[in-house]
Amino acid sequence: MTTRAVVRGVGHYLPRRIVENTEFEATLDTTDEWIRSRSGIERRHFADKTETTAIMAANAARNALEMAGLEPDSLDAIIVATSTADLTFPSAATTVQAELGMTRGFAFDVQAVCAGFVFALTNANALIVSGQARRVMVIGAETFSRIMDWTDRGTCVLFGDGAGALLLEAEEGTGTSRDRGILATDLNSDGSLRDLLYVDGGSSTGTTGYLRMQGNQVFRHAVEKLAATATTALERAGLTAADVDWVVPHQANIRIIQGTAKKLGLPMEKVVVTVQDHGNTSAASIPLALSVGHARGQLSKGDLIVTEAIGGGLAWGAVVLRW
Ligand code: UT7
Repeated sequence: MTTRAVVRGVGHYLPRRIVENTEFEATLDTTDEWIRSRSGIERRHFADKTETTAIMAANAARNALEMAGLEPDSLDAIIVATSTADLTFPSAATTVQAELGMTRGFAFDVQAVCAGFVFALTNANALIVSGQARRVMVIGAETFSRIMDWTDRGTCVLFGDGAGALLLEAEEGTGTSRDRGILATDLNSDGSLRDLLYVDGGSSTGTTGYLRMQGNQVFRHAVEKLAATATTALERAGLTAADVDWVVPHQANIRIIQGTAKKLGLPMEKVVVTVQDHGNTSAASIPLALSVGHARGQLSKGDLIVTEAIGGGLAWGAVVLRW
């Protein structure tokens, strides 16, 4: 018998305010056509003051708990993947714990930027497989609109806000790739590439700072590294791309999503795409896509899913799971 971290619930929250590409045309030297054709983004949601990272995370978690029919106190742990926690500390996860009224267990944040959810899932899987937790809420939540330089057309049109949550529970499997739950993971980073995507603020500057990105340089690394990490994770699970029912990728750019699918030899019919409606929501993008894909009826019980993401660090990785 092998312990598996199996999905019991999924949920998401999107801010009320939707901003179409055309809104940027009034303040920036940009066009809806440029944003659409270069990134695939058509609109994104921006949080208001009340829609903090932790509040959105808690809302997404409530939806996942509701789907599972479980109470917050039945959770052993909450992990929030975020690079836009509302405060430097305490963690967003402890605020979520308080918001949910959860009085036991433990909560912490994981910060691996756009790859954060893949890193958080891997941590949750390790806690469950090692017997340290049975039920873990894994959340990706971001308010990247708070770290945008609104004069930089190369970045501010690309990002959005939101949160998604996955509730994982220990279940005994057979140890084969037919099991439901997380089957394999692969994590990577290369700190020598940290200047390609970073925020120019923090404790060293006494400011929150703004996101800075050499977009075309990040793009150069993305397709190759994403296809490689997905292939490695599949190999670890004893599977190949031919076994995959759905790719649920980080939603940064439709051209990266298409290029990675092509490199894996998978048609776009097998890819969950939400980038047109959400923009790049960093660590929230994969759980948002899982939740929206589930709501659309795209994901069925037993489907083999590969998630993959890359972002600041650079940090990248993939998780193979059976829904
Ligand atoms: O999620 C974390 C990881 N991040 C990513 O995966 C993002 C990866 N990168 C990308 O998605 C793309 O590189 C971008 C969408 C950011 C940019 O697309 P690109 O095809 O790589 O364009 P580029 O950066 O090479 O810029 C091409 C031109 C430049 O003008 P010149 O130098 O050719 O005259 C830019 O100044 O497009 C210009 N440009 C814009 N034009 C209109 C940049 N931003 C804009 C804009 N509107 N918003």
